Amino acid sequence: MKKTTEKLYFTLGIETSCDETSAAVVVNGREVLSNIISSQIPLHQKFGGVVPEIASRKHIENVIPVVDEALRQANITLKEINAIGVTYGPGLVGALLVGVAAAKALAFAAELPLVGVNHLEGHIFANFLAHPELEPPFMALVVSGGHTSLVYVKNYNEFELVGQTRDDAAGEAFDKVARVMGLPYPGGPHIDRLAAAGNPEAISFPRALNDKNSFEFSFSGLKSAVLNYLNSAAQRGEVIRHEDVAASFQAAIVDVLVTKALQAVQQYGTNQLVLAGGVAANGMLKTKLASACMDMEVQLYYPSPVLCTDNAAMIACRTYYQYQGGKVADLYLNAVPSLKIGGNDKN
Ligand code: KG4
Ligand code: ZN
Repeated sequence: MKKTTEKLYFTLGIETSCDETSAAVVVNGREVLSNIISSQIPLHQKFGGVVPEIASRKHIENVIPVVDEALRQANITLKEINAIGVTYGPGLVGALLVGVAAAKALAFAAELPLVGVNHLEGHIFANFLAHPELEPPFMALVVSGGHTSLVYVKNYNEFELVGQTRDDAAGEAFDKVARVMGLPYPGGPHIDRLAAAGNPEAISFPRALNDKNSFEFSFSGLKSAVLNYLNSAAQRGEVIRHEDVAASFQAAIVDVLVTKALQAVQQYGTNQLVLAGGVAANGMLKTKLASACMDMEVQLYYPSPVLCTDNAAMIACRTYYQYQGGKVADLYLNAVPSLKIGGNDKN
């Protein structure tokens, strides 16, 4: 642990919104002292996706041991923590409730402030852990299993939702297409790997809502187009090059994300773009965004893969900034499965 004369604020973050039980300790919102992630992916894999009931049960088993381990690795006691933050939405209600109940109990027992964190704001804040020089304002592209949104981050506690998906999220499209191609859950990393050996121009898949003035996304048509392509090719007895399907599908998603993100950057007059959420780990997305940003003299930020997917360090980071801004919750904090970004002034 750091020894300096500067006042140090230690935040404990807890994340249980989906299929990762995670706890982390962060100092002054920027330095990760521990980030323990207990993934349930192998448990859900045989079902092809997350089973909410199983996720809740596993969170109950894991949450306290994971918190203990996070404190132990950070070499800190609960009494030395300054605030406890927990994801209270969006996510699976039963899964969220486990983290919220655990955080409330710990905050009550240790007489600590409790902070309710929006999971998507957490994803964006992962970038503050990865990039010490990063400061708002900036445009953020949040691409996860459940969400695809463009968010203008005005300052540490003010956000404007610029646009979001009308139907499937980008990660959801990756997972559904992967599933019909016989790849394991979660499919995003598998498509990413397969696509690296394929031709992104082999098949022309649709780019929905790709007009200049729209910041909305739609990926369900693309998903259906891939399914139709696979079915028709199979019926005609054609040989399907899965690498080309993966690369062409991925190119269609990435094209739309890159175009809209840079249009939003231009419209809001910022020169910083932040990438966040599980799909931010995608190789082609990072490469294409980096080259488009270079052309437009925009600084691109994205976290390391472990901070892209669900983790509690990002929640502990967000907790610090909410706590500094006085956005503290009380023990009535409840899970809000469809929580909107920026829609949580009370917490
Ligand atoms: O942010 P996250 O861990 O959980 C949610 O909040 O949803 O995102 C998980 C999503 C999954 O859909 C997964 O397939 C996708 O992120 N993902 C990727 C990659 N790594 C994870 N998608 C594309 N390429 C990747 N390398
Ligand atoms: Zn997430």
